Amino acid sequence: MIKSAIVPVAGHGTRLLPATKSQPKEMLPVARKPIVQYVVEELVKNGIEQILFVTGRSKTSIENHFDHDPELARALHASNKHDLLSELDFEEMRTHFFYTRQRLQKGLGDAILCGENFAGEDAFLVALGDSILGLNASSRVVTRMAEIFEAKRASCVIAVEEVPPEETGHYGIVQPEHLDGDAFRVVDLIEKPAPEEAPSNLAIAGRYVFSPLIFDMIRRIQPDKRGEIQITDAIRLLCEEGKRVMAVKLPPGEKRYDIGNFPSYFETFVEFALADPVHGAAFRKVLERLLAGQ
Ligand code: G1P
Repeated sequence: MIKSAIVPVAGHGTRLLPATKSQPKEMLPVARKPIVQYVVEELVKNGIEQILFVTGRSKTSIENHFDHDPELARALHASNKHDLLSELDFEEMRTHFFYTRQRLQKGLGDAILCGENFAGEDAFLVALGDSILGLNASSRVVTRMAEIFEAKRASCVIAVEEVPPEETGHYGIVQPEHLDGDAFRVVDLIEKPAPEEAPSNLAIAGRYVFSPLIFDMIRRIQPDKRGEIQITDAIRLLCEEGKRVMAVKLPPGEKRYDIGNFPSYFETFVEFALADPVHGAAFRKVLERLLAGQ
């Protein structure tokens, strides 16, 4: 079982300016909850017991969100707003939260390296804080990844999803040894290749299981053209060293919601709002009216 997760949330979120000027993109709401709450709920449902957030300046609201707010609870009690109090139930999660800062923005690989002491000698999960897996974070893919990690004695297991071939330039893309069921070996991977250079249309979907071996790989790779240390390059080095790198495909019908850019943020918000048990049906009517131009 994998018990520890590193959640990198240090990025500036520049693709979402001005919304992210003074607040983390991971705290933007999707329907009722901030994005990062879905991510944490998914991890907890998959057996994660401790989470390290790799943060940066202006990310303190993430820490506040997962902390108790006794004053707010008292005020809701005093005014008998018990239904609203239950909205704070997530504060009772028995997860242990840890926080560290990535002091310079040197890429995702460098952010993960900040978790080396936290991970210790055990395998761990990395979950990107701007990706929700499955509607309402219902995905079990992380559990499947942990099973494959153990069964295949892998050094790394990556969640992947199929993307339209013209979109490979937005993602890390894997080269499978041969496609066989939902889990297969990866022989190479490239960060954000042009469509004509992409070895497949299977994109890295923001969840990784690693053995601690990855930290040495991160230290050994060179930064890319923009000075960023890419985790994709560190995984590539694992492949070159003959270590077993596996990929697990998201099951059919299970989507990854990427909040890193406005079009997919808008789409995610609308899809989650439509699925809201209380307001979804009424919101659907509003949307239909708006789309009919009335
Ligand atoms: C990162 C990874 C990329 C992955 C993507 C998923 O890119 O580097 O390999 O496919 O997340 O969201 P970013 O979106 O941070 O540029």
